[in-house]
Amino acid sequence: MQITQLDLSDDIIDLGVGQPDPSLLPLAVLRQAATHRLTQPDASLLQYGMEQGNEYFRLSLAQFISDGYGMPVDPDRLFITAGATSGLDLVCARFTSPGDTVFVEEPTYFLALRLFADRGLNVVGLPTDENGLVVETLEEKLAEIRPAFFYTVPTFHNPSGVTLTASRREHLVRLSEQHGFYIVADEVYHLLAYTTEPPPPMVSYDTSGMVISLGSFSKILAPGLRLGWIQAAPDPIRRMTRSGLLLSGGGMNPFTSAIVQSAVELGLQRKHLNRLIGIYRQRASDLEAALNETLSASTTFIPPGGGFFYWLRLPQDLDTAALRDTAKRNGVNFQPGLNFSAGGELHNFMRLCFVYYDSDRLREGVRRLAAVIP
Ligand SMILES: Cc1ncc(COP(=O)(O)O)c(C=O)c1O
Repeated sequence: MQITQLDLSDDIIDLGVGQPDPSLLPLAVLRQAATHRLTQPDASLLQYGMEQGNEYFRLSLAQFISDGYGMPVDPDRLFITAGATSGLDLVCARFTSPGDTVFVEEPTYFLALRLFADRGLNVVGLPTDENGLVVETLEEKLAEIRPAFFYTVPTFHNPSGVTLTASRREHLVRLSEQHGFYIVADEVYHLLAYTTEPPPPMVSYDTSGMVISLGSFSKILAPGLRLGWIQAAPDPIRRMTRSGLLLSGGGMNPFTSAIVQSAVELGLQRKHLNRLIGIYRQRASDLEAALNETLSASTTFIPPGGGFFYWLRLPQDLDTAALRDTAKRNGVNFQPGLNFSAGGELHNFMRLCFVYYDSDRLREGVRRLAAVIP
């Protein structure tokens, strides 16, 4: 059985993973939140939920993300999902038809490519640099074809770690308005800033309802909760709440929402996030030091200001997919660049994750990696 998000062996330091360290999963927080919620005489969390998500939960969530985003968030513009993945899949279901084209960044989040394939979408990758999408290339592409949407990870990108600058955000949103395509902004790392405060989330640049933002509790609380949100204008929200999925099943995860609401209202979510930020900041810094000390100068990277990943560029003639077997035999693994490419390129890149292991294991992983990079 293949479990893409969880396929780990003890002998290998798998820097290719993308999930939190099991020792940081907040069992005590969830125990306290669940006790708080389940001792109240209100069984409504066990009923089918409101399609858009419970309104009290959306109120608490709006307050929480307003604080984190530094901008007011309207609870009526939030829609509760079973995580960013389910949000993205629902957007595909409601805003595309098989055969439509979507634009992505090159590189892009590799499992989004799988979702788009499942939905029969054509994917066009657009170049990025150290400031995110090169918006001029989007402008050129728009002269040929109008996509159903542009999928972007604007902040602390997976895999590249880069953040789209404020002026490019502005430009991108203006283009979406002029050409009539949605921007689907996957902002799951926005609240995980360690050394750089990112520009405001994409919705804050939106004046005509073209931005659909995906958020998630997976990276800030626990992926097993399968809980996230979409922030968007009333029209796209309405379109999602009227899907057969919601009409038949009701709102997503009302039970989990109610417990996470307690975690938010008791301040436990904020406390946990602050703890994660402290730990991840240290791990990122230790991984970076190890990379600088151990790898040759021909391997380069742009230090990310937050998120989960370092994206290494190796010499052009190296193929990281081919290097992977040797690396595994030497007890280390990574994600080859090719996986993140819509166009079958990026063969000389690799993604390393710094949140799963502690600093000693990260250093050992880099030592093993250096031994196999020619
Ligand atoms: C960019 C991006 N989007 C979505 C996800 C998955 O999020 P969720 O667990 O909320 O479905 C991940 C996790 O790796 C991610 O990196």
